[in-house]
Amino acid sequence: MSAQLIDGKQIAADIRGEIKTEVEEMKTRTGKVPGLATVLVGTRKDSQTYVRMKKKACKKAGIASFGHDLPEDISQEELLKIVRELNANPDVHGILVQLPLPDHIDEEAILGAINLEKDVDGFHPINIGRLSMKRREPLFVPCTPKGCIELLDRTGVEIEGKRAVVLGRSNIVGLPVAMLLLHRNATVSICHSRTKDLPGVVREADILVAAVGRAEMVRGDWVKPGAVVIDVGMNAVDDPTSEKGYRLTGDVAFDEVKEVASAITPVPGGVGPMTIAMLLRNTTNSAKHHLKMV
Ligand SMILES: NC(=O)c1ccc[n+]([C@@H]2O[C@H](COP(=O)([O-])OP(=O)(O)OC[C@H]3O[C@@H](n4cnc5c(N)ncnc54)[C@H](OP(=O)(O)O)[C@@H]3O)[C@@H](O)[C@H]2O)c1
Repeated sequence: MSAQLIDGKQIAADIRGEIKTEVEEMKTRTGKVPGLATVLVGTRKDSQTYVRMKKKACKKAGIASFGHDLPEDISQEELLKIVRELNANPDVHGILVQLPLPDHIDEEAILGAINLEKDVDGFHPINIGRLSMKRREPLFVPCTPKGCIELLDRTGVEIEGKRAVVLGRSNIVGLPVAMLLLHRNATVSICHSRTKDLPGVVREADILVAAVGRAEMVRGDWVKPGAVVIDVGMNAVDDPTSEKGYRLTGDVAFDEVKEVASAITPVPGGVGPMTIAMLLRNTTNSAKHHLKMV
C-alpha cells in the first residue's frame, strides 16, 4: 500500500476525548452539561442504529441525551409540537431529527421549525443558506461534510488552491462539502448522475470526496497519482463469508485506489466515526454559546 491511511476512527476518538474534557470543565464552571435531543420517527432499522450510536457517544462524552422515539403515524402537527417544546427546553442545546422522515411529514417544515441556535445537524434552511454565501457564517455546519474537512485538516492536507472534485450533490453531503471546500479556496467541481466523462473529471482532483452511494464505483485508473481521497460512501454488499451476510464498502475501490492516492480513508473507519464526533462538537459548541462561555 502506498497511500497513507487516514484513520477516522482514531481522529474521531481524539476529538471525542477533547470534547469530554471540555464538558467536564463546563460542568465545573456552570454546573451544566450540553444536552442533545434526538427525534426518531418510525422503526427503520438503520435510523434506530444511528440514533442509538449517537446516544451512546453522548453518554461517553458526558453529554445529556433526550430521546423521543415516535410512532410512524405521528401527525405533522404533533411532531411540530415536540420540536417546539425542545426549542423551549433550556437543557436542550441541540435538536437532531433523524432523516428520512415518513412520506406524510413535510421534512422542510420540520427542519425549518428547529430553533436556529439548536440546529446541530446544520440542515435548517438559514444555516444551509449561510453556508452557501460568501462572508456569511452558518451557526452550524452539517456533521458529515464538517467531518470530511476535519479529516483533511488533521492529516495536514492543504486545501487552498487545490483542485477538488466532489462526487455527489445531495443536500446532506455533496453540496455542503463542496461549499466548505470552496470557502477554503479550493477550485471545486461537483459531479452527479448527468456528468459526462466522470472518470476524466475525477482524474483532475487533488482532493476527491466521493459521496454517491455506489459501491466501489471509483476505480484506480480514475484517480490522479498522489490525490487525497475521502470516501463518504457506506454501501452494504452481499458477503456470504461474513457473519451478517453483508459487508460495508465505500464508493471507492479501496484496494486499487490505495496504490495511486497519497492518502485515503477506509470504509468503515473513515468518515463514519467523524459524523458522530462532529455532532458532539456542534452540540458542545451550542451549549457554550447558550451558557455564554464564548
Ligand atoms: N459516513 C457517513 O456518516 C455518511 C453520512 C451520509 C451519507 N453517507 C453515505 O454517502 C453516500 C452518499 O449519500 P447521500 O445521502 O449523499 O446520497 P444521495 O442523496 O443518494 O446522493 C447521491 C448523489 O450521487 C449522485 N450519483 C448517483 N449515482 C451516480 C453515478 N452513477 N454517477 C455519478 N453520480 C451519481 C447523485 O446524482 P443526482 O443528483 O444526479 O441524482 C446524487 O447527487 C451513501 O453511500 C451514504 O450511505 C455516509
